[in-house]
Amino acid sequence: MSSFPITRLRRFRRTSGLRGLVRETRLSLDDFVMPLFIGPEPITNDELPGLRRHSVETAVREADELASAGVKAVLLFGIPEEKNEEGSGAWDEDGVVQRALRALRERHTDLVLITDVCLCEYTSHGHCGVLDGEHVDNDETLTLLARTAVSQAEAGADAVAPSDMMDGRVGAIRAALDDEGYESTPILAYSAKYASAFYGPFREAAESAPAFGDRRGYQMDPANVREALRECELDVDEGADMLMIKPALPCLDVIRAVREEFDLPLAAYNVSGEYAMIKAAAAKRLIDERQAALESLTAIKRAGADVVVSYWTKELAQWL
Ligand code: PBG
Repeated sequence: MSSFPITRLRRFRRTSGLRGLVRETRLSLDDFVMPLFIGPEPITNDELPGLRRHSVETAVREADELASAGVKAVLLFGIPEEKNEEGSGAWDEDGVVQRALRALRERHTDLVLITDVCLCEYTSHGHCGVLDGEHVDNDETLTLLARTAVSQAEAGADAVAPSDMMDGRVGAIRAALDDEGYESTPILAYSAKYASAFYGPFREAAESAPAFGDRRGYQMDPANVREALRECELDVDEGADMLMIKPALPCLDVIRAVREEFDLPLAAYNVSGEYAMIKAAAAKRLIDERQAALESLTAIKRAGADVVVSYWTKELAQWL
């Protein structure tokens, strides 16, 4: 390669047209998933509009707006009327997510409906599985997660996304879906989900903060990347159809490492704290929200994510 002054990389930066020609990473709405929270008491959060909580009725209206703006996929979270030790609201035929799925399915044949499979929004103690003392019992939890995934598929989910981080859950969910005739329902596994400080605003919206302790006994240590590859490998063996890394910006190296090692479609979750930080800084006029959001989302794609779950998806539909 020749060097300066023959080579001048600024030549292709001179105009917007020239920059566009050589741009390596582009954002398309086709790759984005908008999270939606369904709960008994709808709440609005003016500071974090992506984390507002909908009733089934307003969720349907929101989905209408999203679909007409060009959004292709949503990820549903439910907050039940009542929580209990086991989190039985998660697989209740009449649960919030199941009702929302039926209502959304009826109006939207094309909108991709993905469901979060986890118990933490449904358990009284806020942990992601059933307790044995103060410890989350892995194997007991698998049956409940599998039952939850089947009930969501039954209600119309296009794909199920387990986020609990129990060992063996992808295999348990795959077996249960296949047994019940849902062999065509894909599993989007939150394979490498870290015990992250960036889930705070989500836990408020979903009322799912653990009542005691934390999630470090099942979610991954943010210091590890080889372990993320092992998590992915196990999920692939158990039948995962898509892998996911979460959170996104603190894990760009993990996204890159997984992209290089696996050929499955790869998703990254740009989580609530990543969204809230930029919103808060923008409210103080410290940064420009749109520029900062677009730069973040581009970085996640550049790192190797095919699909991005982001609270900016609705705004992105306006920006692109
Ligand atoms: C449920 C779940 C969480 C998130 C997605 N699924 C919370 C948690 O693990 O505590 C976080 C998403 C976000 O912060 O945007 N287990």
